[in-house]
This record gives sequence, C-alpha cells and structure tokens, in this order.
Amino acid sequence: MCIEETFIMIKPDGIQRGLLGKIISRFEEKGLKLIALKMMDIDENLAKEHYSEHIGKPFYERLIEFITSGPVVAGVLKGEKAINIVRKLVGATSPDNAEPGTIRGDFTINTAFNIIHASDSSGTAKKEIDLFFQKNEIFTYDLALEQWLGSK
Ligand code: CMP
Repeated sequence: MCIEETFIMIKPDGIQRGLLGKIISRFEEKGLKLIALKMMDIDENLAKEHYSEHIGKPFYERLIEFITSGPVVAGVLKGEKAINIVRKLVGATSPDNAEPGTIRGDFTINTAFNIIHASDSSGTAKKEIDLFFQKNEIFTYDLALEQWLGSK
C-alpha cells in the first residue's frame, strides 16, 4: 500500500463563498483521512515561499495579493495514493479544463479564483505540509477501515 499525506488549502474565495464545508465533505466522502486542519491568515513571506515556483509569471503579483487578502483553511489529508486522488477530486487549474464533478469543475469559472490549492507531487506535499504545519498540529488516529485492513 502506498499511504501518502498531501496538503490542501481552501483559498480566500472558497471561504468567502461559503464553500468550505462542501469542499471538505468531498474529501471525507471519498474516504480520505483529515489529519490536520486550521484557519489562518497567510502573510506575504509565507505566500512568497509557498508560491516561489511562480515568481516572474504574469499572474504572480496578483496571486500573492489575493492569497493574503483574507483567511484560508489549510489541511493535510492522508490515504492510499492520496496525492493523486486529491488532485483528481480538485480538478484542473484552469476551470475550462476542470471536469464537471471535480471541485473546480463544479464551483469555479476563473483560473485566478480557483478556490483550492492541492500539492501536485510527493516533493511539494512534504514541502507544503512542513511550511504550514508544526508537528504537533498533525494528528495520528485510525479509521475503522484501516484497522480492518491492518489486521488482514
Ligand atoms: P494553485 O493550484 O494554487 O497554484 C498556483 C496558482 O496560480 C493557481 O492555483 C492559480 O490560482 C494561479 N494561476 C495559475 N495560472 C494562472 C493564470 N494563468 N492566471 C491567473 N492565475 C493563475
């Protein structure tokens, strides 16, 4: 089994539009385990560190301004192949490519305001989890299904 942890962040527009519960529900309903969750403001330093790969792109300045404009909800999801599964549930970055049934496909119409970020690889997942969470903010517990799988 390939158990992975991945980072998600509901962006300021997701909070403003009252979509937090719906978005988190999609991950819970899929069977992913939420092991960390917190509402927070992102300051400019954290925003620049998180989005460092986009420095110099035409949308970079606006992205930093937007992500620091209001509270976000950051979380960590855990499960078998969680990184890829979460990316699929989230959908493509650009709403015109995001399939209906995905979070972005159902709720977004603009690339800049795409309501959620999710790690795109194991490398970025580790970097982003470490950037946003202290060790004591990440929880360890078993779901019933995991106990059953572990006993077989
Ligand atoms: P995210 O998954 O958080 O990763 C980088 C973000 O940059 C992306 O979601 C979008 O919010 C934003 N972004 C990427 N491409 C564009 C674009 N062409 N125009 C505006 N914003 C973009």
